[in-house]
Amino acid sequence: MLNYVHDIPTKVFFGHGAISSLKDALRPYGKNVLLTYGGGSIKKIGLYDTVIGILKDGGFNVTELSGIEPNPRIESVEAGVCLCKENGVDVILAVGGGSTIDCSKAIAAGVYYEGDLWGMVENRHGVLKALPLVDILTLSATGSEFDGGGVITNLKTKQKLGNMYTYPAVSICDPEYTFSVSAYQTAAGSADIMSHIFEGYFSRTMDSDLADGIAETILKSVMKNCPVAIKEPRNYVARANLMANSSVACSGIPEYGKQGTGWPCHAMEHELSAFYDITHGVGLAILTPRWMRHILKKDATSLPRFVRFAKNVMGLDGNDDMQLALQGIDALEAYFRSTGIPMTLTELGIGTENFEIMANHANAGGYLKNAFVDLTDEDIVEIYRSCL
Ligand code: NZQ
Ligand code: ZN
Repeated sequence: MLNYVHDIPTKVFFGHGAISSLKDALRPYGKNVLLTYGGGSIKKIGLYDTVIGILKDGGFNVTELSGIEPNPRIESVEAGVCLCKENGVDVILAVGGGSTIDCSKAIAAGVYYEGDLWGMVENRHGVLKALPLVDILTLSATGSEFDGGGVITNLKTKQKLGNMYTYPAVSICDPEYTFSVSAYQTAAGSADIMSHIFEGYFSRTMDSDLADGIAETILKSVMKNCPVAIKEPRNYVARANLMANSSVACSGIPEYGKQGTGWPCHAMEHELSAFYDITHGVGLAILTPRWMRHILKKDATSLPRFVRFAKNVMGLDGNDDMQLALQGIDALEAYFRSTGIPMTLTELGIGTENFEIMANHANAGGYLKNAFVDLTDEDIVEIYRSCL
């Protein structure tokens, strides 16, 4: 088990009615609020009116940035930074899913960043000086409500890059705000939560019991609760479990004591989103079983971990380890398919045309050198091909 640092400064108010803490969460930072949100879902569910009511009642001055895109664009970050500077914003209030929160993190840091904002996205750095950020989460998926990272897209250069910006000071996580999330986004978000776990679970460090136990629990909980949430969108318990899993899965906690892997499926998926603007979780669901089969075939030393996954997570048993490992992967793919999302790149209209360049980008910077099984550009192309 390796050394680790626990450092998550975010205060989370979780559960029904958590929004009652909003005024007190914002007050320490000042009166001028930048309210950020996406394409309008928060208006449809009445959350926008609730938030505006609370802000008016609290005497806050509100500036708005709306229309933050799924796979948020650098242009939205630039627009937000301008609004903050023009209006003397003291604190950002992000209301939405991972895209709105990620974009708001980059805005919060961008206010203090000297130089080109795309440079801030591209350059590797740790947490930056930033405006305080409070968020109200409306989609269980990314864990952006409980981590310091954000992912920003530049459609002109076809890049989608993750980086560290700032941790939310406060996250308000009321599962009821996710009752309106579509079946498609529920399935995609759940696949994202599971992928955050897989990226750490399939690591060369096998003796971190706490991390592996949390990982297996989250995987089983997501596979139990996602189908319920799809069938019964207003099922509080299912939505609550997905939300709690979302925050912890991407927090680093399920990787404590483990060798970092560079997150290979995320590296491959961010290329798909950058080139084709697809939904992150769908790309991950398509890639994950194919990546698993590829690395199992490439490196037999990965077998025991796949056997553990088949037994502890997928509930399978058998005497032939290789057969069991493959059955575990098949069962995972069948589960993803049962949630109704596309399970091939062809269904998304993606062909082979950019596989080489995407593989080259995904592998750049040497981030995948400690992956559970190392991946060459050729491996990545092969994985993409197996997703067609
Ligand atoms: O834009 P609106 O109208 O709000 O609609 C959104 C959007 O169309 C909708 N939605 C959100 N909450 C809803 C809702 N619809 C109905 N009811 C609600 N309560 O869902 C759509 C997708 O929203 P988005 O925020 O894009 O989804 P998600 O939370 O999955 O975020 C995806 C982004 O986060 C990045 C992804 O790459 C992608 O750019 N990630 C961020 C991470 C992080 N910060 O740590 C880690 C992840 O691995 C991921 O890369
Ligand atoms: Zn993800």
